[in-house]
Formats: sequence, structure tokens, C-alpha cells
Amino acid sequence: MQSLLYICNIKDTETMKERKIEIPVKVYTYDELNEGDRQLIDRAKEMTYHSYAPYSRFSVGAAALLANGETVCGSNQENAAYPSGLCAERTTLFYANSRYPDVAVKALAIAARNESGKFVQSPCSPCGACRQVMLESQARGGEPMRILLYGTSGIYELSCVEDLLPLCFTAADMEV
Ligand code: THU
Repeated sequence: MQSLLYICNIKDTETMKERKIEIPVKVYTYDELNEGDRQLIDRAKEMTYHSYAPYSRFSVGAAALLANGETVCGSNQENAAYPSGLCAERTTLFYANSRYPDVAVKALAIAARNESGKFVQSPCSPCGACRQVMLESQARGGEPMRILLYGTSGIYELSCVEDLLPLCFTAADMEV
């Protein structure tokens, strides 16, 4: 296992002080993962074959491990009216939260194949809209959602959604 640290510098507009945000990322080879995480990655990889991506030819699969032991899976579903399609992460989390509204999602694994049909080399990272949905799903569950991003060169593990979405907007930001 290797450790990566992503560092972002943010300038506070009022004080003009700079703040540093550090994002710890663990990088594993497939063999270094524990059995449970390997299985979750395998489910996400399998789900890429259920993707409907005739337009982008980018097939994404996701697998969510729930606190009740169930695994819920999904894939990206495209549409001729492009914005009507949905990413694998949101398909999966909306399904998991519909099917089991009171059960936390403990981990979410994501895998992708590009138009060559091969799994991507560097891990496929969720889009901004999916990160926002992951954040809310994590808040509903009330416990950290681990994220596993599969790439043939390594698997990234993030320990919670905030690590994918620093300075995030949540319901708490609307409170007076
Ligand atoms: N896509 C996902 O399903 N998840 C991601 O993390 C990135 C992008 C989908 C959306 C679209 O169907 C295709 O990949 C190309 O953007």
C-alpha cells in the first residue's frame, strides 16, 4: 500500500490567509485488498458489462456495500437526449437509498472501461454531481462512506466522501 497526499491551497477572501487542505489517498494493488474489498471491486467491474453507453462508449459500474450486508450495484445509463442519462454512482446510490432508505452505505466501489473495452489504467473518479449525491447519501447513513476507485495501475481508497469534495455544500450551510 502506498500513501498519496493531495494538497489544495485555498485563499480566504476576507482575511487573505491561505489554508491548506490535505487529502489522504491510499493506493493498493488488487492483491493487497482484503477479501471484502476485492469482492466489491469485482462487482463494480462486472457491472460495467451492464452499462448502456452507446454514445460515450465509456462503461462505468458501481457497487455499494450496505450496513445490512447487502451489495447494491448499478451502471451508467445513457440516453439519446444526453442529459437524461445517469452515471453509475448515482444510479447505484439512488437505488440503494430507495430500496433500503434507513441503511447506511459503508463503501462504494467504481470501475470503468473505455471504448477499447479495457479497464481504465488510472482510477475513474466520480463527476461533481455524483460527489454531491454521494455526500448526501453518506449524511443519510450517518457514517463515513469509503470510496474505492479501480484502475489497472492501482486502486485508490478514500476514507469518506469529503475527501472527494473538499469545501462541500451541505444542508448545514443553509442554517441560520
Ligand atoms: N460516468 C459515470 O457513470 N461515472 C463517472 O464517474 C464518470 C462518467 C458516465 C457518464 C456517461 O455515461 C459516460 O460515463 C461518459 O461521461
